[in-house]
Amino acid sequence: MKNNNIDDLLRNNQAWVAEKLALDPMYFEQLSSGQTPPYLYIGCSDSRLPLTNFTRTEPGELFVHRNIANQVSLTDINFLAVLEYAILHLEVKHIIVCGHYDCGGIKAALEGRTIGIIDNWVNPIRELYLQKQDEIHALTTREERLNRLAEINVAAQVKNLFQTSVMRQALEQQKAPMVHGWVLDIRTGLIKDLNISTLEWQLHPCPLLLEFRLYAILNNKNQPEPI
Ligand code: CO
Repeated sequence: MKNNNIDDLLRNNQAWVAEKLALDPMYFEQLSSGQTPPYLYIGCSDSRLPLTNFTRTEPGELFVHRNIANQVSLTDINFLAVLEYAILHLEVKHIIVCGHYDCGGIKAALEGRTIGIIDNWVNPIRELYLQKQDEIHALTTREERLNRLAEINVAAQVKNLFQTSVMRQALEQQKAPMVHGWVLDIRTGLIKDLNISTLEWQLHPCPLLLEFRLYAILNNKNQPEPI
């Protein structure tokens, strides 16, 4: 490990600033003028996954939310605030849910290791594993099983995005960002696009709302407020 001393980080910071300014004296002045990131990145907290490095993106390009095993939790007020801000105020064009192989959260979910509050946090992934047990157990190695569950998890989190009220509202107004499910292979450094189709959720953004509208039309009433 290169930077064992906390002072190393401050020294690195000063060196990095000097390098940036040497290339572009206006770099930080421009950076401080505000942010219009085109991407929201939802990733795992794992220290090996700063997506900026893997995608050569600069400060100002990725709006970020990270948690253990990159979950889209419908009850996490922190995540929901990030999502709402990204969609309504920053108007991001793309949302990337990026999982990764060799994920500790996935291991905890698959193998039921008890390590504290993380057990509760990864329980939705354990539920996914129980639903897909046959498919996962058909794989021969532990690595294959863990990798498959990491991919299944990304797909589930992409689907969850479409269950949030802010996303459904954006779909209704045809302003929804495109959603991408990726998985990063730490062994190679390469990102794989899982090509998750979101079409079925886009076509039916909110079945309950459509039902209300139909009811209102049939009864010749004003349409209800969006829920
Ligand atoms: Co992880």
